[in-house]
Amino acid sequence: MSSPLKAMIRIRITGTLVAAFILLQAIFLVLMVSRHNVFLPNSEEKAEKVHLLILSSWRSGSSFVGQLFSQHPDVFYLMEPAWHVWVSMSHNSAQVLHMAVRDLVRSVFLCDMSVFDAYMPNKRNVSDLFQWSSSRALCSSPVCDFFTQDDITNEKTCKILCGKYSFNKVEQACQKYSHVVLKEVRFFDLKVLYPLLNDPSLNLKILHLVRDPRAVAKSREEAAKALARDNGIVLNTNGTKVDDSKYEVMREICRSHVQIYETAVHKTPSFLKGRYMLVRYEDVVRDPVKEISEMYRFANLKVTNKLQGWIYNITHGQGPGGKREAFQITSRNAVNVSQAWRNVLSFQKIKKIQDVCKGAMNMLGYQLTDSEKEQKDLSMDFVLPRRQSQFAWSSSKERT
Ligand SMILES: *[C@@H]1O[C@H](CO)[C@@H](O)[C@H](O)[C@H]1NC(C)=O
Ligand SMILES: *[C@@H]1O[C@H](CO)[C@@H](O)[C@H](O)[C@H]1NC(C)=O
Ligand SMILES: *[C@@H]1O[C@H](CO)[C@@H](O)[C@H](O)[C@H]1NC(C)=O
Ligand SMILES: *[C@@H]1O[C@H](CO)[C@@H](O)[C@H](O)[C@H]1NC(C)=O
Repeated sequence: MSSPLKAMIRIRITGTLVAAFILLQAIFLVLMVSRHNVFLPNSEEKAEKVHLLILSSWRSGSSFVGQLFSQHPDVFYLMEPAWHVWVSMSHNSAQVLHMAVRDLVRSVFLCDMSVFDAYMPNKRNVSDLFQWSSSRALCSSPVCDFFTQDDITNEKTCKILCGKYSFNKVEQACQKYSHVVLKEVRFFDLKVLYPLLNDPSLNLKILHLVRDPRAVAKSREEAAKALARDNGIVLNTNGTKVDDSKYEVMREICRSHVQIYETAVHKTPSFLKGRYMLVRYEDVVRDPVKEISEMYRFANLKVTNKLQGWIYNITHGQGPGGKREAFQITSRNAVNVSQAWRNVLSFQKIKKIQDVCKGAMNMLGYQLTDSEKEQKDLSMDFVLPRRQSQFAWSSSKERT
């Protein structure tokens, strides 16, 4: 070939390439624009996904409240995923572990379960996840076909039938739901959660669940052995298990409730508006239907007929697995049961607990007692009614 011809061909090829390139760019631009227009409503919808953190403390009724969410057909629930962080690094303090706990919680909210790589064996099953069978979502499809998404699941049956599946299913399941709900007792400072509240990929709401510290202390006494390692982490003992006989852990728990509540309600940062709700366990016990409806409304969840029936059953002493799985109290003696501490704890102990938790008790509406006579007189109610101003949610819309 002569060289002018070669040159012409080269120019023609180059011209074709340029034209193709321009065409590609045009297609890309059109796609970008249409993507913007077409997908904008979608991404807004996606932002409607709700990430609810049940922020509580040990022995405060959070397993029960967790179940109210776990059994909802729109909810992917995990109980204490950060248990894995604490178990893996139990020589550290709660403060040091805060960041790892926060990272884990964020990843789980986004259904990124690779975060567990740091805390679990490589080859793992669903059953390696702490308290997995308390999650209805992990007992139904796509994890396990024994239950459907609308079923009320039974922990015992689920444990037998659904644990052997591959851990990958956890992520698949999570992606299916509009709501991800996590229960944690391992946050002691609301500020740790600020980055999550400001994270545009999350729509975080915080349900702060508290209980009378005297009732908490009684229940903690009964579970002392199970709490010893966590106590050590709270008190920063470098891996030494401790018994909280001096109520030092109680002091820390009460301090954190004050910090969280005061920050959320009295020094509300703008990004927390409408995203915080305080619930007292005693109020749930006394008027479950009202409190549960408010919690669901806060989380943008609708009560289904099936859930309504189940809630009626568990608050009337009928659980699917018999009494043990039920609320364990009927509404008629609910108040009596929630006051069991008054018959069990010595007045000496009550004085000590009140001493370390005075601030939290005043703030949350639990009346202090200064005599044994009052303590034993069950006609005296120590749970003060919720004051409008005291318990108003950060969003004024909900209660006016
Ligand atoms: C996971 O499941 C497989 C098969 O279903 C089983 O052989 C294995 O022992 C399970 N592993 C664990 C850790 O439970
Ligand atoms: C913590 O305990 C480990 C052993 O369990 C020990 O090697 C380490 O020196 C201890 N650290 C401190 C600060 O006491
Ligand atoms: C409630 O309890 C009744 C009687 O035990 C039972 O027939 C019904 O299926 C229960 N409902 C739900 C939703 O658990
Ligand atoms: C609750 O406790 C009071 C005082 O001990 C007792 O009189 C009452 O019968 C109890 N109520 C129920 C439903 O157990």
